[in-house]
Amino acid sequence: MYQDSKLFLNQAVIKDWEEHYAEVFGKHILLLQHSLHELPIFREENLERLIEGCPTKYYDFVKMGKQGEHKKSWRRGSIKDVKGSDVLSAIEKGRFWLSLQSLQEWDDTLKAVVDHIFDDFSEKVPGFKPYKLKLGMLISSPNAQVYYHCDLPAQSLWQIKGEKDVYIYPNSEPFLSDQELEPIFLGKSEEEISFQPWYDQFASKTTLKPGEMTHWPLNGPHRVENHDCMNISVTTSHFTDEVRNFYAQTYANGLLREMGFNPKRNSAGLTKYSKIALAAGHKFVYNKFFAKPKSPKAPMDFTVDLSASDLMKNIEPISM
Ligand SMILES: [Fe+2]
Repeated sequence: MYQDSKLFLNQAVIKDWEEHYAEVFGKHILLLQHSLHELPIFREENLERLIEGCPTKYYDFVKMGKQGEHKKSWRRGSIKDVKGSDVLSAIEKGRFWLSLQSLQEWDDTLKAVVDHIFDDFSEKVPGFKPYKLKLGMLISSPNAQVYYHCDLPAQSLWQIKGEKDVYIYPNSEPFLSDQELEPIFLGKSEEEISFQPWYDQFASKTTLKPGEMTHWPLNGPHRVENHDCMNISVTTSHFTDEVRNFYAQTYANGLLREMGFNPKRNSAGLTKYSKIALAAGHKFVYNKFFAKPKSPKAPMDFTVDLSASDLMKNIEPISM
């Protein structure tokens, strides 16, 4: 644990909190100032060590295709035995992203940080009892994009370095249809959902700069475009009982729809069948999510090579 991090743990994470934000938290989009980016763990030399120490199962290192090219052309790489400084250089100069996942499981400092973040929100928002807290980090090249998608747990995005445009859309039809949401909960489709360019007319567009974070309503679809600079962002995710119940209900609705019913997303009076499905779904989903088996990933078939024009070299594919 870094000395300055201990100081951070005694401070409020959010710098500009106002009491009435508690009424908005989780229900509407919030844009707030934070102090996370001042933590020593985000200094370059410490990030390099963090990258070098990341267990293989907790990262995805990806070479993106050209701008606008489909994700299918992307490749998954290995950073085993690559210096952290070389990984950062490749990301800064090329078209890569590195996602470090579930840092709370393998880095004590960031475990303390995510706990502190949610302790802070729990103090500020009456009745807020989050659990299954996760912290991830995305280090991405200039102009990289994250395509339109929705996340299942509640999410926040914290900007550490660089600038990005974040577009957040309403979590309702037509931006997020039940027919697209339910298969994600059922594990039958990815988190990416269909997008129409006109959706942007209804998006909340924010440029996130270091020291800014945003939190949005559950499952709110979003997409992200980096400015012409390397970006470092942190994501935090959490569950509450309300989120978990919605999760189960949507799962149950997905089952009902497959059975030929047409359930409402937030039905108040549940039918007998939906109650049965809800109960079954609740148990199944809870187990499924909390002990979620990872779907097989593409093999890693390249590594960083700063001497190559494309900053990478092919390796024997490694399946992990
Ligand atoms: Fe997301």
